[in-house]
Amino acid sequence: MQVWKDYQAQHKDRFLNELLDLLRIPSVSADSRHNDDTKRCAEAVKQRLVEAGAENVEVCPTAGHPIVYGDKIIDPSLPTVLVYGHYDVQPPDPLDLWTSPPFEPVIKDGKIYARGSADDKGQFYMHVKAFETMIKTNTLPCNIKFMIEGEEEVGSNNLGIFLNDNKERLKADVVLISDTSMISMDTPSIDTGLRGLAYMEVAVTGPNRDLHSGVYGGAVANPATILAKMIASLHDENNHITIPGFYDGVQELSAAERENLNKAPFDEAEYKTDLGVDELWGEKGYTTIERTGIRPTLEVNGIWGGYTGEGAKTVLPAKAFAKISMRLVPNQDWVKISDLFKAHFEKIAPKSVKVTVTAHHGGSPYVTPTDHVAFKAASKAISATFGKDPIPVRGGGSIPIVALFEKVLGLKTVLMGFGLDSDNLHSPNEKYELVNFYKGIETIPYFHQYFAEMSRK
Ligand code: BES
Ligand code: MN
Ligand code: MN
Repeated sequence: MQVWKDYQAQHKDRFLNELLDLLRIPSVSADSRHNDDTKRCAEAVKQRLVEAGAENVEVCPTAGHPIVYGDKIIDPSLPTVLVYGHYDVQPPDPLDLWTSPPFEPVIKDGKIYARGSADDKGQFYMHVKAFETMIKTNTLPCNIKFMIEGEEEVGSNNLGIFLNDNKERLKADVVLISDTSMISMDTPSIDTGLRGLAYMEVAVTGPNRDLHSGVYGGAVANPATILAKMIASLHDENNHITIPGFYDGVQELSAAERENLNKAPFDEAEYKTDLGVDELWGEKGYTTIERTGIRPTLEVNGIWGGYTGEGAKTVLPAKAFAKISMRLVPNQDWVKISDLFKAHFEKIAPKSVKVTVTAHHGGSPYVTPTDHVAFKAASKAISATFGKDPIPVRGGGSIPIVALFEKVLGLKTVLMGFGLDSDNLHSPNEKYELVNFYKGIETIPYFHQYFAEMSRK
């Protein structure tokens, strides 16, 4: 619509400057030293929602970081869209690998470099600016509710409680989220799925103290060696996961569905070059697209123990540790998978060591039905601004709260993400491209317009 275009062209620079201000706030949810920053960020989000024209805007305290809520109800008989996003970000380390400081955003070659630029400040802020556009041009076609939380990157535990306590306030027809990526600006796509997650930590203890590796080595089991062996045994020679019962209930896709999924463009040579690896790895019998979308996986996120400082120290460490996560697909249950992991890991431990396994957070997988009116509205909106129909793809990441939107609020979710896999999420030099930011702001009003129209039919 021309009025949207005109309004956005006129306010383009301000939209960007406001985002840069948000990116300057180090709202790292995992690090309690940033609790004041996280709170400050919630207040800033509140302020921006008010300025954009939202009502009932509130910073809602939780046992952890606050949730920002705001809405605009123009007519209760019209459909309501619940927009979800998160203002918290991942820790920025390792700091020395950043080419500019993570919380001092810079624009270079048309890209905004800062922690949170793509995940998720740059993306949820597109919704605030799209909303402002519709409000200021008097074209808002439906009701909108915003819920922007501050604990997504640490598992959204308090948001689950908030959903249960605020069912009436959060009543809506669909949830809309921009917190995923597209294949490319030339090949737009919409994620139709998110994987679930089960995150575990293990500790292996051997002798009651660190030992001289010359005096005791060879006679006492080394916890680091044992842990390495135990971890290695979690995949078999075909890279299937060996935990008994792990694949029980895993939804297998039909040959036709798999064929369809594999139609998405994928250049293996380019993928390898981009990552600097000579060969890919993964579960036998599945393509890379399938391995990262429809198959469950197990990853070691970190492993440590013994001497890791400068130089060489001879020691047989008393303990070794690892953080291990599993990505889950329908219909795996993360609590059950956590239990299976624990039982298996304890069982395979030799008598020479003691093993403790603790579960961190988890979440269920989610799949968006592509015949849902909101999915169709999102497709049509992207077609309108990209000039091409988006390809449905299954995303590999997780947003654990999405399964609870369905379970607690009975709402389906549409994942209309505008990021790129090359945005360096959770990594040094995270970036979000200006064209993606502006394209998102341009596309979102069409979603609301089409969703309102198509819901009426
Ligand atoms: N925005 C991501 C999830 C994502 C990224 C989905 C790219 C699809 C494509 C989200 O902020 C995230 O990082 N989630 C975590 C889980 C969370 C519990 C820490 C993840 O996927 O590791
Ligand atoms: Mn995110
Ligand atoms: Mn993230």
